Amino acid sequence: MSNSKPLDEFGPGERGNEDDEAAKELELLKEQVMGLKGEVERLKEYINQLEEDKEKALSPPLIEATVLDVLPNGRAIVKSSSGPNLVVYVTSNIPQDKLKPGDRVALNQRGSALVEILPQSQDLTIRLMEIEEKPKATYGDIGGLEAQIGLLKEAVELPLKRPDLFKEIGIEPPKAVLLYGPPGCGKTMLVKAVAHEANATFIRLVGSELVQKFVGEGARLTRELFDMAKKKSPSIIFIDEIDAVASKRLDASVSGEREVQRTLMQLLAEIDGFDPLGEVKIIGATNRLDILDPAILRPGRFDRLVEIPLPDKSGREEILKIYLKKIKLDGAIDLPYLVNSTEGMSGAELKEIITEAGMNAIRDSRRSVRMADLNLSLTAIKKKKEKGISSVGYL
Ligand SMILES: Nc1ncnc2c1ncn2[C@@H]1O[C@H](COP(=O)(O)OP(=O)(O)OP(=O)(O)O)[C@@H](O)[C@H]1O
Ligand SMILES: [Mg+2]
Repeated sequence: MSNSKPLDEFGPGERGNEDDEAAKELELLKEQVMGLKGEVERLKEYINQLEEDKEKALSPPLIEATVLDVLPNGRAIVKSSSGPNLVVYVTSNIPQDKLKPGDRVALNQRGSALVEILPQSQDLTIRLMEIEEKPKATYGDIGGLEAQIGLLKEAVELPLKRPDLFKEIGIEPPKAVLLYGPPGCGKTMLVKAVAHEANATFIRLVGSELVQKFVGEGARLTRELFDMAKKKSPSIIFIDEIDAVASKRLDASVSGEREVQRTLMQLLAEIDGFDPLGEVKIIGATNRLDILDPAILRPGRFDRLVEIPLPDKSGREEILKIYLKKIKLDGAIDLPYLVNSTEGMSGAELKEIITEAGMNAIRDSRRSVRMADLNLSLTAIKKKKEKGISSVGYL
């Protein structure tokens, strides 16, 4: 402190200033100390975290297993992912009553103790599947397709509702039905309606998603799908776009396609091991019957084929009527004209004509639809169709 003066040399007020400054500096230093203490705490925490990570990295991996049975004395029988069934101790951090057969669990490295319940893989299955307890669609919502509805009633609805009839006569209903035909003609709708009328759960699985989104999981998911269907029975398993898993053009030398074939094998195994009089039915759907692997069409598998074609004249009339009934009309509608000028259109396209007509009315600030709106949308959709633009999903 070379520039410090003896106390009496300070003028009045000067010393007070110095005091103030020292006090300020002290405050500042105190704050800095606080800040550094905080920093030390944070670093200590970080070290702890790193220690934990190090421990985790050094700890041996756990073994995945599935619980087969829970034994009363704190033990359980599990099937380990590496193969054998094991009797293991359940560590005390897992409440005994929480553990149930089918749970996915982790064993310690020696495979001698069950140490953790893993999140159930069903989550994945549920994400993949579309499940409706009782779909709303009814046969009444479907235009045309009377013969097809009759076939499904006999092959799916009746066996689910009255298996006793089949047992009494001694015949087996078909296990699985395959619907085929061009897009937008009511396959999905029909299956939902059958599920509705049979009071069954509708479980939909899309073949292309099974092979694209869940690579390596196809076979397991197929197995889980059937387990889930049994749990939720009576139920209908609907495998849409089945050609994605069951195409005869698959090349087994490509690894991705080998995987698809494994999924198909699992699917066939599930169908083969299936009780035709049980409370689960399978319906498949495809736009491409021509590319299906014949293995899937063999007797005892998808052996009942039902074509869902483009609607004929009376089919178109019925479909148009169904959707015209739902909208507010203004003036006369020339239904025969609409029926005659929509040849070759699918149910989805017919519905689109009516929806588009409604949009025309809204654009024109009207509250109801006129024949002129229908004519406009008919022309627009025909043009779109000529250009080959898919009309489904236009909104
Ligand atoms: N016969 C029909 N009666 C009433 N509506 C129909 C009919 N066919 C199709 N539709 C309408 O078109 C929509 C699409 O039909 P759906 O999804 O059932 O076709 P799909 O045959 O399953 O087609 P994709 O092969 O593309 O899956 C239905 O939701 C329904 O609104
Ligand atoms: Mg469909």
